Amino acid sequence: MGKLKLGVLGSGAGSNMQSITDAIGKGDLDAEIRLVLSDVPDAKILDRARRHGIPCQYLDCAPWKTKLEGEAEDRCIRLLKDAGCDTVVLAGFMRIVKPKLLAAFPMRVLNIHPALLPAFPGVHSWTQALDYGCKVAGVTVHFVDAGTDSGPIIVQKCVPVLEDDTPETLHARIQEQEHLAFPEALRLLAAGRLSVEGRRVYISKEG
Ligand code: GRF
Repeated sequence: MGKLKLGVLGSGAGSNMQSITDAIGKGDLDAEIRLVLSDVPDAKILDRARRHGIPCQYLDCAPWKTKLEGEAEDRCIRLLKDAGCDTVVLAGFMRIVKPKLLAAFPMRVLNIHPALLPAFPGVHSWTQALDYGCKVAGVTVHFVDAGTDSGPIIVQKCVPVLEDDTPETLHARIQEQEHLAFPEALRLLAAGRLSVEGRRVYISKEG
């Protein structure tokens, strides 16, 4: 498949973008981040991108509050295409992406979700896992489809839920695994080792 040309969409701290940047820097991932877009004007992910010299900008998604649609979606697709992106990474992007973006990058939009899907889609999944009394929690990297946190699963990693966990301590443990899982999924994609049949993602052997 060759070097991935990534467009990263994020709303928050950008620690997942950082893990991808670090993996690229160490030579562990054949990719480059061509563009970072955030729907939050002062999001830390934009500061991080600037520090790394990665082109980035705020994407005004008004009038929508929870989705990327209409004129903003068109602008987003245009910016990603103009930057030469072939793969879109949702790294803490707190909006639903719609079919037009997915059609512009077929089977090339990946999301990270802080739970072992299909359990606990949506927001604050780690709090949901804690409140439910789960003994394990984790993270999922998946291809994005038209649903919410519902596309074919590429990588999952588990963490234990400890008796003295708070939402913060559990989220921190999950995030450590996120920072391994996203580069791992992208490495498999870059190596052309993923194939999708229905809901199942098959990983071919290395080499
Ligand atoms: C992560 O927990 C991710 O799983 C969720 O949003 C958070 C983003 O964190 N979708 P960051 O901005 O990458 O630090």
